[in-house]
Amino acid sequence: MTTVDAPRRRPGFGRVLRLPGVYAPQADSYFLAEAIRRENVAGLDVLDLCSGSGVLAAHAARLGARATAVDISRRAVFTVRLNALLARQRVAVHRGDLLGALPGRTFDLIVSNPPYVPTPPAVLPSRGSARAWDAGPDGRVLLDRICEASPLALRRGGTLLLVHSAVSGPEASVRILREAGLRAEVSNRTYVPLGPVMRERLPWLRQCGMLGPGEDKEELVIIRAEKR
Ligand SMILES: C[S@@+](CC[C@H](N)C(=O)[O-])C[C@H]1O[C@@H](n2cnc3c(N)ncnc32)[C@H](O)[C@@H]1O
Repeated sequence: MTTVDAPRRRPGFGRVLRLPGVYAPQADSYFLAEAIRRENVAGLDVLDLCSGSGVLAAHAARLGARATAVDISRRAVFTVRLNALLARQRVAVHRGDLLGALPGRTFDLIVSNPPYVPTPPAVLPSRGSARAWDAGPDGRVLLDRICEASPLALRRGGTLLLVHSAVSGPEASVRILREAGLRAEVSNRTYVPLGPVMRERLPWLRQCGMLGPGEDKEELVIIRAEKR
């Protein structure tokens, strides 16, 4: 079932610190936090993939989960540790490339707010703040890899919650996950004002037909997929 949610502000993240260049939690982080709250995560092994500041890992831990976080950025990994300490929550933190950071590990719930903003150059940045959002011409470089790899890292009955923009192909996320045998759907949608990166790319996004001439809002979706 798809529901349309009003975006909420900082759902109880408390104080959040960030090293320069680490993604500041915003509408997509809050939207995914609400989706995590709707799951009964107490006692579950939860992986926050592409953790950034670690707010979602700490949020899951506050809700009673055993939380693990992965990010490729050294600064993000340090920031996740800092924010877990600040929140007095236990979070196991790993640096690495998506699920390659935890070979052979499986989880009850994987949550991810990965880079998904369509980006003119096909080569992704290997450093700097743009690594948190640049995601190739269709926005799917990271999304495809997450949808392909997550089914193997989920336990039976486990769930993936993935947030991304509607311009980055929700139907492709759902299709890849269904092809892997998961029950997948867009479970939630919301509209938020265009962020600074999307605003800066607006002429290019319109030229490519990803946003219409009058569109000045971004639609965010939550993909929810269950492993039977
Ligand atoms: C949009 S931010 C999300 C941060 C946080 N989860 C939130 O919701 O506020 C995306 C994060 O993905 C990380 N990232 C980018 N490529 C990655 C990769 N290949 N493996 C793991 N993390 C990656 C970036 O360093 C960045 O911290």
